[in-house]
Amino acid sequence: MHPEVKIFDTTLRDGEQSPGASLDIKQKIEVAQGLEALGVDVIEAGFPISSPGDFAAVQAVAKTVRRPVVAGLARCAPADIEAAWKAVKSAKSPRLHLFLSTSPLHMEYKLKKTPDEVFKLAVDMVRAARALCRDIEFSAEDATRSDPDFLARITAAVIEAGARTINIPDTVGYIMPSEFEALLRDLQARVPALGTKAVLSVHCHNDLGMATANSLAAIRAGARQVECTVNGLGERAGNAALEEIVMALKTRQAFYGVTTHIRTREISRVSRLVSSATGMAVQRNKAVVGANAFAHESGIHQDGILKQRLTYEIMDAKDIGLQENQLVLGKHSGRHALKRRVQGLGYDLSETALNVFFERFKELADKKKEVFDEDLVALLDEGAGAPAEVYVLEHVQATSGTGMVPTAAVRLRVHGQVLQGSGTGDGPVDAVYQTMAELVGKHPKLTGYAIKAITGGTDAQGEVTVQMLVNGRTLTGRGAHTDIVVASAKAYVNALNRLEKGKPAQGKKFRSR
Ligand code: KIV
Ligand code: ZN
Repeated sequence: MHPEVKIFDTTLRDGEQSPGASLDIKQKIEVAQGLEALGVDVIEAGFPISSPGDFAAVQAVAKTVRRPVVAGLARCAPADIEAAWKAVKSAKSPRLHLFLSTSPLHMEYKLKKTPDEVFKLAVDMVRAARALCRDIEFSAEDATRSDPDFLARITAAVIEAGARTINIPDTVGYIMPSEFEALLRDLQARVPALGTKAVLSVHCHNDLGMATANSLAAIRAGARQVECTVNGLGERAGNAALEEIVMALKTRQAFYGVTTHIRTREISRVSRLVSSATGMAVQRNKAVVGANAFAHESGIHQDGILKQRLTYEIMDAKDIGLQENQLVLGKHSGRHALKRRVQGLGYDLSETALNVFFERFKELADKKKEVFDEDLVALLDEGAGAPAEVYVLEHVQATSGTGMVPTAAVRLRVHGQVLQGSGTGDGPVDAVYQTMAELVGKHPKLTGYAIKAITGGTDAQGEVTVQMLVNGRTLTGRGAHTDIVVASAKAYVNALNRLEKGKPAQGKKFRSR
């Protein structure tokens, strides 16, 4: 029997800390259910003290999932621990996850505490948390820039105080794989209770693109829990990607000699679920879950694949839940075929929603020869088939060209009331955005705009992703259409609707790494 590595998923906590990725309660529950189906061992559902919305979301997740442990994050402070405990205590298997910085830099500048004070605080707070909950995890924040002697001393002491998981985060994505392996071997040699009384865990950030490599190096060194997120979401450059770690362990099983509980066939579905809930698109060439991960372009590769798949594929697309053969959908396809395809993509539409979606599908199929899975996902993510949104785009039109002032005309329905107007801008998209801003009386600052073709060909749908700052909050919106001006307008409206959907944080959310 191979030893087991526990998958601690922090998509709903560290992942949600990606700028623009915040989730409301309903979305958190949906993602948590996806994670449970995926087979993760621990779901870190949030940071309960950070906002009333996050508290309620963690509580809801705790009440919803049954198999995974549900963890709530807390600083080493009584109020944090109390809030985290209140939020997770109704879970079947609750966990309190305490963290405190141990690096000289963080202790001096962030905490303004001496190492002795940090040591005492960690031990006292682990003891206090242990009085509430049996399952305590302690994270030594910025562990990889900490003094190894101090790290070992505090590790041994918090295990003695009751911690059952010791997490060694590479908080700023600084360490290199061979260094990390050496650090962890040294720590285990200094603290014999690691591995017997407590599980060694790691949590790697991707600032230098090393998060997956570092997590795997840690497993080689004896770590038996890895913290990661779906699609590698997370602070700054993100966390180690769950799908990369799991598929590396599966594909190179003989090398690593460990197993996980993950049902890999759920990977693709959950990746799409997270991308759609957070509005964070997955880059096409992303390992394992990117649209190109199983696509072959060059003639030499295609020839090799046709002769023997293994020539250029180290993983089987079916192992992550993709279908080998695509059903071609077009304007002659019926409701039944569409329903099957939509279900296969992991969406569960009611009959009414399917009817609405079918009409949208037909409109698109009239414009495109073939409707691909990506087209359907884009339409579904826009909310086709979903209940009415606050902002509805009824009409948009823009004119531009050499020697012309770009002009736009827009008609919106807001809370059922029709608003229409026209305006100018630096380009057609700018003209549309300026006009919309005037109509809705909000003037968001556009912080990002990206456009990509979802599928190939000149009739491809363009997918626009916008990021905007409204009242101190970063919002992401997506829209797809064969006309990029329409796609841009839809993305803007999508972001405005996200603003309306009861977001958790009232005021600014406290963010930790
Ligand atoms: O990156 C980090 O150090 C964290 C801890 C809270 C585990 O996210
Ligand atoms: Zn982190």
